[in-house]
Amino acid sequence: MEQQQFKIIIADQSHQDFARIICDEMESSAKARGTGIAKRSPEYIQEKMREGKAVIAFTEDGIWAGFCYIETWSHGEYVANSGLIVSPPFRKSGLAKMIKKKIFGLSRTMYPEAKIFGLTTGLAVMKINSELGYEPVTYSELTQDENFWAGCKSCVNYEILMSKERKNCMCTAMLYDPKDHYEPEETTQDFKKHSKLYERFMRIKQWKLLAPFLKHHVEDNGVPVSKEGNGGGQRKSLFHRFHMFFNF
Ligand SMILES: CC(C)(COP(=O)(O)OP(=O)(O)OC[C@H]1O[C@@H](n2cnc3c(N)ncnc32)[C@H](O)[C@@H]1OP(=O)(O)O)[C@@H](O)C(=O)NCCC(=O)NCCS
Repeated sequence: MEQQQFKIIIADQSHQDFARIICDEMESSAKARGTGIAKRSPEYIQEKMREGKAVIAFTEDGIWAGFCYIETWSHGEYVANSGLIVSPPFRKSGLAKMIKKKIFGLSRTMYPEAKIFGLTTGLAVMKINSELGYEPVTYSELTQDENFWAGCKSCVNYEILMSKERKNCMCTAMLYDPKDHYEPEETTQDFKKHSKLYERFMRIKQWKLLAPFLKHHVEDNGVPVSKEGNGGGQRKSLFHRFHMFFNF
């Protein structure tokens, strides 16, 4: 079968009519996955387009295929590439990877000093982020901007986030710090090497977080638990950082 070609461009006001279909797809995809999302309105998406803070993808025939946008927090100290969505017929053909690459480049150009971060429950997004040089971090390394965390209120897991005092939840946090980061080759290799374990860690973490809500007794699962904090000192290995998620 012929490989589908895509046009991936920085969105502008001429794309505003696509905001509704983008929001609808975000919502139905979240429902299908059984996960929550920070809800976005078409007006918010349109604003991002007008500001040149979004990337949109089309097929060669002009059919909408994907989207992602930039948000800034803590007065521009942090940037998040949010709302990544690929239209179902075009999934698994590398489009999300291309969109993320484009929005990452745009973020680096617009906010060269900013730390770029993301929260995700999906292994696909973790893989893509790893290939861009993101590394896993604890929630304490993310923006503490109240407006960012307020966005989680519409997520089905908000109660879990609050019960953990915003230190942990179902999502994995990943961050690219322009001043202190691994090379993309290193983070890519690390993900390749440990992806099966990371997947298992995520499942265990999510199960542990859900357990109190399901009123189950949580047994020791034998996964190494780090009692170290995440403060200063030497950089920890990427693999070690995943262990830190069990420090809750
Ligand atoms: C997640 C999503 C954006 C991925 O889009 P996509 O275009 O299918 O992703 P890509 O084809 O670029 O895949 C990137 C990598 O992830 C892998 N991948 C894709 N979907 C996957 C899945 N469901 N589970 C595990 N790996 C997956 C691909 O195999 C690819 O790896 P490779 O480089 O080894 O081939 C898309 O499924 C989507 O829009 N989902 C609903 C919204 C969503 O979950 N957004 C993310 C919010 S954080």
